[in-house]
Amino acid sequence: MSEISVEQFKRLSQHIYQKLGLHFDEKKIYFLKKRVEKRMAALHIAEPEDYVFMVGYADPHGLEMQQLANLVTTNETYMFREYEQLQAFANHCLPQVLSAKLARGERSLRIWSAGCSSGEEPYTLAMIVQEVFPQAQSWKCQIIATDIDENVLQRARDACYGDRAVAEVPEDYFKKHLSEDGEQWRVREKTAALVEFRHLNLNDRMAMRAMRGFDFIFCRNVLIYFDDLSRQAVVDHFYNALNRGSYIFLGHSESVGRISTAFKLKRFESHLVYAKE
Ligand SMILES: C[S@@+](CC[C@H](N)C(=O)[O-])C[C@H]1O[C@@H](n2cnc3c(N)ncnc32)[C@H](O)[C@@H]1O
Repeated sequence: MSEISVEQFKRLSQHIYQKLGLHFDEKKIYFLKKRVEKRMAALHIAEPEDYVFMVGYADPHGLEMQQLANLVTTNETYMFREYEQLQAFANHCLPQVLSAKLARGERSLRIWSAGCSSGEEPYTLAMIVQEVFPQAQSWKCQIIATDIDENVLQRARDACYGDRAVAEVPEDYFKKHLSEDGEQWRVREKTAALVEFRHLNLNDRMAMRAMRGFDFIFCRNVLIYFDDLSRQAVVDHFYNALNRGSYIFLGHSESVGRISTAFKLKRFESHLVYAKE
C-alpha cells in the first residue's frame, strides 16, 4: 500500500470539509492517514489516489463518506459532563422556561442534544428533567439526540454503559435512573423513553432546516472541530431552530459571541449561557 501524499491529503480533507464541515489541517495528516489506511485495507484499495477519487467522485450516496465520518469524529463523552453548566440549566434555565410555558398553558418541552455521541449527554438531560420536573411524563417532553456517527448512535440506543461513563453521576440520580446489567449500567426505561436518537449531519442544510421548535439546544464539544464558516452556519440554524425564550449551551471552550450577536449572554451563578429572547 502506498503512503498518502500531502497533495492527496489536501484533496481528501477538502472533500471531507465539503461533506462534513470538519476541518483537517496539515497537523492532522497522521491522524487522518491512519484512518484512511484502515478504510483502504477494508476495501482492498492499494493506492491512496484511488481512494481519494472514490470519496470525491464515486460515492454518490455518501456511503464511504459515512464510514470515514465514523472513524474521524471524536466521541469522547460521559454522563454529567461539565456539571456547573448543567446546574445552571437545572436550577435556573429549565424552571424559567417551564413556568413561562405553564403561564401560557403550553404542555410541551423540546430539547436537542446536537452531537450526542453515545448518548451520555441526552440521558443526563433526561435524568435532570425528571428530577427538576416530575410532571415531565404527563407533558409532551422530547429530547431529540442527533449525531453524524452511526456507530455511536447504535451504542446510544442500547443505553448500556461501563463504569467510566457513569462515574460522575450524582448518588441520588444513580439508583433512580440506572440499573445494574452484568458488568454494566443500564439507563432505566422511564428515563430512556424520553430520548429519541436520530442520524443528522450538522452541515446538512436541508436536515437542519427541518429542526424546529426547541426550548433548549446542547451542542457541547462538537463545534471545536469546525472552522469559523461552518460553525457560523450551524449556529444560524440553531437560532432558527429555537423558540423565543430559549437557551443554547455550548462547551466551555466554545462561544457563539464571536460569530453571532443574535443571542444574549446571561449569567447564572458562575455560569454564562446564551439566550434567544
Ligand atoms: C466529543 S463528542 C461530544 C459529545 C457530547 N456532546 C459531550 O459534550 O459529551 C462530539 C460528537 O460530535 C459529533 N459530530 C462531529 N461532527 C458532526 C457533524 N458534522 N454532524 C453531527 N455530529 C457531528 C461526533 O460524531 C461526536 O460524537
